[in-house]
Amino acid sequence: MPVIAVVGGQWGDEGKGKIIDLLAGRSHVVVRAQGGDNAGHTVVNSRGKFALHLVPAGIFNEGTQCLIGPGVALNPEVLLGEIDALIERGVTIDNLVISTRAHLVMPYHRLFDNLEEQERGAGAIGTTGRGIGPTYSDKVARSGVQAGDLLRPERFREKVRAIVERKNVLMERIYGAERIDADEIVDRYLTLTDRLVPFIAQSEPVLEKALRDGRTIMLEGAHGTLLDLDHGTFPYVTTSSCTVGGLLNGAGIGPRHLTTAIGVFKAYQTRVGAGPMPSELLDEMSEHIRQRGQEFGTTTGRPRRCGWFDMVAARHSMLVNGFHALAITRLDILDDLDEIEVCMGYELDGQRIDYFPSDVEELGRCTPVYEALPGWKAPTGNAVEWKDLPSRAQDYVRLLEDAIGVPAGLIGVGQEREKTLFTGALP
Ligand code: IMP
Repeated sequence: MPVIAVVGGQWGDEGKGKIIDLLAGRSHVVVRAQGGDNAGHTVVNSRGKFALHLVPAGIFNEGTQCLIGPGVALNPEVLLGEIDALIERGVTIDNLVISTRAHLVMPYHRLFDNLEEQERGAGAIGTTGRGIGPTYSDKVARSGVQAGDLLRPERFREKVRAIVERKNVLMERIYGAERIDADEIVDRYLTLTDRLVPFIAQSEPVLEKALRDGRTIMLEGAHGTLLDLDHGTFPYVTTSSCTVGGLLNGAGIGPRHLTTAIGVFKAYQTRVGAGPMPSELLDEMSEHIRQRGQEFGTTTGRPRRCGWFDMVAARHSMLVNGFHALAITRLDILDDLDEIEVCMGYELDGQRIDYFPSDVEELGRCTPVYEALPGWKAPTGNAVEWKDLPSRAQDYVRLLEDAIGVPAGLIGVGQEREKTLFTGALP
């Protein structure tokens, strides 16, 4: 009964969607466990190109049950929009289950996300503006609203009225903004229930049965470890737990059940939003990688900051996640380079360090220590096996494996699902 977790090892956008889509074909249940529609997974398969934000990437495999788990921040309007777009393109969504425990993103959460960002001024985090931070804040403050509340409209109305009363104090006194109308929000959300309620259920029996029947469960990570609330570059992070541990918790599966944790790493590094990124490139190489890799946000369309692979950050990610294997994605984007650099260490105030500073101000002062490798200058897109890769591309992958300490089980050499090599190293 394999339970596989697929987690981003960097700042998100590692190409997890493709790896998840690929492995979903072998999974009976795919669980989205954390985050909300701030995430974006691009999936390219025989049906075309899809940008998913909430629906688990297993949706393209008709036999796969797709669960939006207890740890997710769920915007029901966005979900329904996504469902409609999928149905329109012939994708069946009958296998979708929404956990009663998932917290709902309410319209006022988006409002507060934007007001808080404005208030941060120069220190703005560069959030996606989807209201995810305020949703999790309310969850932790125990004033959140859960998907299960939609099953009891009267209780839902009472809850929202009480919450909005307190929000309006903030709106008026702190932000000098217009009051929120609780009933308008409740009415708006209750119009969605006819369509949503059939999907809402306790998720525990689904997982319990899958485990009992020896089914394969995949936990689909969103964002990336360096954006994790506890282990990322705080405060320039998202507000959920993006690590293997976070996924287990967000899905509601104990660690004893986990069999394989796969860390997805792009062959280089990208980041969206503010915060330090020691190996960021600010020259024409950055633009070259951005254009060649089409590095623009799936959710916001923002240009991603690009840089060389950061080994210090990768080892930090390895520590907090304990990956069994790596999935290296987008190797083909580096195909035409004369030379490829890898950040093997940092210098902080003239001293060489090899740990990932927890203090963002210190991390921002770190300068990368690079090791340069010759490029392979040959297309990798047609490789079907490890031995088809140019030897210099193999050397590059070996360097990443050796320094991180686990083998690469999957290597991505193109956007399509098929353009992924299985090296035989997946446990
Ligand atoms: P939030 O998650 O919208 O609160 O944004 C917090 C930070 O996380 C910002 O820097 C976002 O750009 C970043 N972020 C959130 N989700 C993703 C993602 O899926 N990929 C990359 N960056 C993300």
